[in-house]
Formats: sequence, C-alpha cells, structure tokens
Amino acid sequence: MTEKLKLENSERLYKEAQELIPGGMMGIRRPYNFVPGEYPIFFEEGKGGKVIDADGNEYIDMLCAYGPIIMGHREKEIDKAAMEQIKNKGFCMSLVQSIQNKLAKKVTEIIPSAEKVVFLKTGSDATTLSTRVARGYTDKTKILRCGYHGWHDWCVEVKGGIPKKLYEDVFEFEYNNLDQLESLMKEHGPDAAAVIVTPVGHPLAHPVQMPKPGFLEGVKELAHKYGAVLVFDEIRSGFRFSMGGAQKVFGVTPDLSVFGKAMANGYDISMLVGKKEIMDVLVQKVFVSSTYFPNSISMAASLKTIEIMERDNILEEIKKRGGIFVKRVAKYVKRSKLPIELSGGELMPYITFNKDEKGLYKKMRNEFYAQLIRRKVFLQPYHHGYVCYRHSPKDMRYAADMVGEALEIVKSKV
Ligand SMILES: Cc1ncc(COP(=O)(O)O)c(C=O)c1O
Repeated sequence: MTEKLKLENSERLYKEAQELIPGGMMGIRRPYNFVPGEYPIFFEEGKGGKVIDADGNEYIDMLCAYGPIIMGHREKEIDKAAMEQIKNKGFCMSLVQSIQNKLAKKVTEIIPSAEKVVFLKTGSDATTLSTRVARGYTDKTKILRCGYHGWHDWCVEVKGGIPKKLYEDVFEFEYNNLDQLESLMKEHGPDAAAVIVTPVGHPLAHPVQMPKPGFLEGVKELAHKYGAVLVFDEIRSGFRFSMGGAQKVFGVTPDLSVFGKAMANGYDISMLVGKKEIMDVLVQKVFVSSTYFPNSISMAASLKTIEIMERDNILEEIKKRGGIFVKRVAKYVKRSKLPIELSGGELMPYITFNKDEKGLYKKMRNEFYAQLIRRKVFLQPYHHGYVCYRHSPKDMRYAADMVGEALEIVKSKV
C-alpha cells in the first residue's frame, strides 16, 4: 500500500495563510479543488518537469502551472534572457523599449490572425480587451461566449459582487453546439459585437473536446452573417497546438485572438492580436493602458521561448512525450473496465469518470487522484493536464504506470 504523503508544512502554511489572506489563496489553487488532505497546498520549487512541495515531496508536474510551463521550470536559456534584460537594459520605463516591436514582428509572422498586436499581462486582460475592441469597432453591445475567459465582471461564473448590468448583455453557448449558437444569434445577432470561443473545448471537470467538423467554420460564418467580430480565446491552446495556435491547426482564422500562458514559459505576458482594421480602433476611439503592460522582462522571455521552440522543434517533441503517456494510459483505462473517459489527446490529457446517478464517479475520482498524488504524479481532478518539454519519456512512462496502479486500487475499492 502506498502511504498518504507527509504534508505537515503545507498544512501549517495553509493555516498561517488563512490568517493573512482570505481563504489562504485564491481560486482554483485552494485545497477543495484537489483532494483535501491528500494533495500538497504549497509548492516550494520547480525544476524541469518536476515540482517540490513545502514538505520536500517531489512530483512529475503534469499541470504545468495551469498551462504556462511549456519548456520546463527554471529553463536556463529563457531565465538568462530575462536576467540579461534586467541587468543590461532595465525593464520598467516611462516609454516603451524597442523589444516591443521585435516581439510584435515575430508574433505577426507566426500567428495567422495577427496583423497587429497589443501586449498585456494576463489572459483576463486580453479577453476583456477583445470585447472592448469588438464593441468599439461594431458600435454594438452584445457578446456571445463559449469557454472560461477569466475573472472579469463580464464573464466570470461566480457572480458575487458584480452588478447584473455588467453581464446582462453576455450570452453563453455550449462548445460544439452550433444549433444553440444559431438560435442565440437569431435573437441577439443584430446587436452582437463579438462571438468569443475557445477553439478547443475545455470546460471545468468535463472531458476536453476537439471541434466537430464544421464547428469552428460554422461559428465564423454565423458571427460574420450578423456583422459580429469573431474572437478565438487561445490562452490555453496558443503555443501548444502549434506556434500559430489552434487556429493554424484547424485552418480557421478569426478576426481577433488572445494568447497568454505558454507564450513566455511562465513569465507574465498576454496579447490581443488581430486584423489591422479592427485593432486600429485602439489608435483613437478605444483606450487601454496599464503601468506594467510594457514591462520588458516578459517580452525578452517570450522572444527567447519562441526562438527555442522554433529552433528545437519543441512542440513535436512535446507531442511525442504526451503520446507516450496517453497511449500507455489508454491501455490501462481499457484494462480497468471502469467508466472513464480519456480526453485531450497528447497535449491536454485528462482522465474523467463518467457521471452516474448514485454519484459513484465522485468516489472514484477522489480515490484515483489521491492514489496518483501518493505516487508523485501531479494531475488535477477538475482540470486537464499539460505536457512540457522537460518531461522525459521515462517520466511519461512512469506517470502512465502510476495511473495504471491507481486505477487498480480504484477498482478494488469502489
Ligand atoms: C481559455 C482561457 N481564457 C482566459 C483565461 C484567463 O487567463 P488569466 O488567468 O491569465 O487571467 C484562462 C485562464 O485559465 C483560460 O484558460
């Protein structure tokens, strides 16, 4: 039997944090989003494809900081580029530095929808700006949306603290449900400024979905039929599905798109990119600015990340490594005969338990993820995983074998 992990330092730090910070930490990093009592609560260190918690337990990190870690933690070349920017140039100035243009030029070369670019800090900055730009361009109000787009008032799921008027013009549709979008457009299309959708479907605690044939094309057609701007939210898929995003893989080019996470291997930067004609509402009509948006540490990190990824064909390697994991996991899943869906392919692998009336799937999920974390594989029960370059083939085989062991235990217990 594999013992429960020693997590005393995590527990102590959590108690302390609760005195200082409401809930100890924010959002999805809180313990109830994992298996409470089984998962660590504080990490201390990351190195390559691994993370070490506050009690010294070392894990294969298959959550990759919820997406930004594409190469690995403490990637020497990237950190060096960031440190050189700090040491040799400085990074926080009253005017922009020339590195802005260099990164923008690179981005316009690799992303199909990118004619012009605005750099920001977070994914939420970028999705929110996309709605403002679309509203400025169309002089319309309504937004049709599909996916998680961040914490801002117009789109966050938990509505506490937000006046209704700030989201009453926003309508949600399901991924891969073109009929639903069509009927929403019949009602709201004439007032629609934008349709924003994640090109890959990744709803919380549900299997990852790839677009059905014609789905993304259909969304584009409907948006344009009513004169709305089509926005792809590529915060997760960008710099993972391809250097040009999922839009390049699926061959559908939106009017605007947003990127963040993997574009700088963990450094804080995001961007809105899109057609010149639409982006140019930012010249005069629409305003955006923030003290830290031009901060150049993350720009240097992003340029270096892109350079390495292109030079060493990193995404092909990541796909191979993810492939080792999912192929092996698929065998264990089949052998277990448990009601499981393995989704997300080699880039966003996710193991979910199919819902049943008695709620057995919740027990299986808790047992499975508890057994997995005891075996030092860090995956999230409610969120798909990720693969990074520093996950070695050996790590991937080990992680998959631990999935196999955990499934055997679930089978014997539930
Ligand atoms: C698809 C998508 N859009 C937007 C966001 C918001 O990004 P951020 O958390 O950096 O504000 C996220 C964050 O997970 C995301 O996954």
